[in-house]
Amino acid sequence: MTALLNDSLLRALRRQPTPHVPVWLMRQAGRYLPEYAALRARAGSFMALATTPSLATEVTLQPLARFPLDAAILFSDILTVPDAMGLGLSFAEGEGPRFARTTADEASILALAAPDLARLRYVFDAVAQIKRALAGRVPLIGFAGSPFTLACYMIEGSGSDDFASVRRMAYARPDLLERLVAVNAEAVAAYLAEQIAAGVDAVMLFDTWGGLLPAASYRRFSLGPMRAVLRTLPANVPTIVFTRGSHALSSLVDSGAACVGLDWTVDLAAARREHGTKVAFQGNLDPIALLTDPATVQRAVTSVIEAAGDAPGYVFNLGHGIVPATPPDHVAVLVETVHAARVTRV
Ligand code: CP3
Repeated sequence: MTALLNDSLLRALRRQPTPHVPVWLMRQAGRYLPEYAALRARAGSFMALATTPSLATEVTLQPLARFPLDAAILFSDILTVPDAMGLGLSFAEGEGPRFARTTADEASILALAAPDLARLRYVFDAVAQIKRALAGRVPLIGFAGSPFTLACYMIEGSGSDDFASVRRMAYARPDLLERLVAVNAEAVAAYLAEQIAAGVDAVMLFDTWGGLLPAASYRRFSLGPMRAVLRTLPANVPTIVFTRGSHALSSLVDSGAACVGLDWTVDLAAARREHGTKVAFQGNLDPIALLTDPATVQRAVTSVIEAAGDAPGYVFNLGHGIVPATPPDHVAVLVETVHAARVTRV
C-alpha cells in the first residue's frame, strides 16, 4: 500500500490535528465541470461512465486536476447496488434515476436477495484503478447508500418529493419494509467491505431520506440498519454518515461512525457545543452560496469555518451535492479560502 502524501482528511476523521482544514465536495466530479459533460457525452450515458473503470477513473480525477482538494471520491452512484439486485437502473438525460422494476409489494420484496458482488466488479476495478492513478496524493473515499435511502428508490422506482409510498409502507406493512432494509443492509455491508479490500481509505453512507421519517420509524428503518452496517466494517477505516434533517443528528453521533456529515440547515456551532468532539463533523455550506460571486463565496465559507470552531475533527464540505449551475471558479475560491483559514489545529 502506498503511504499517503496528504492524509489531512483521514487525520480529521480521526479527530487528530491537521495542518489545514481538509476539504472535498459532494458531487465534486459532475455536471458543473465542462470536462465531465464532454466525457459523459462521449460515453453516451451516466451508466456507461460508471461501469467502465477507465472512464470512472478519469471522471474521479477531473476535479483534482483543477483544485487542490484533500480527497477523491469514487465516481459511481448509490443505486448501483439495487441495479445489481436486478432492478434495471437508468438515468435519462436531464431526469433523475429510474428503475425498470420496483420492490413495492410482498412478492418482490420476499424474492429479493443481496446481489452477487461479481455484478459490481466494475466498481471494485474502478477503485483499484483510481488508487493506482492517485499514487497516494490524497485518500479515496468509497461509499454506499443507506439501507433506507436505497429502499426509497427501490419502492418508488424513481426520485420523489415526499416518498409517500415508502412512508405508507412503514405504517401499512412494517414487516415488508423491515425485510427490505435488512436485505439492503446485508448488501451494503458486503459491498463496502469489498470496496475497502479494493483500496478505499474511508467510506461514507448516504442517508439522504432518513430524515423524512418520524423518530421511532427513523430508528427502526434507517438508523438501526446503518448501525448494523457500520458494526461490520473494519475499525481502522474511518466512516462518515450523511443525513438530511437535523432531528437525526443526536442519533447519528452515537451511530458508531467516526464522522457525521451535516446538511446546510444544521447549526454547526450548536452541534459542536452539544456534542463536543465525540465525533468529527463534515459540512455544511449551502451549495446555493456558490451561485453568487467570489467575495460572497469567501464570506460564506469563512462563516462555516468559524462555526466549526478550532477543535480537531472537522472536514469542510457542502451541506449537499454541488449543483450543476456552479461556476468552477467559485469552487477554486472555496478551496483556497478553506486552506487559507487560520486555525489552531496543529
Ligand atoms: O459525490 C460524488 O462526486 C461521487 C459520486 C456520486 C454520485 N451520486 C454521482 C452522480 C455519489 C456519492 C452519489 C450519491 C447519490 N446518488 C445519492 C446520495 C447523496 C445525495 O445526493 O443525496 C443519491 C440520492 C443518488 C441518486 C441519484 N443519482 C440522483 C437522485 C441523481 C439525479 C439527480 C442529481 O442530483 O444529479 C443521480 C445522478 C448522478 N449521480 C449524477 C452524478 C454525477 C448526475 C448524472 C448525470 O451526469 O446526469
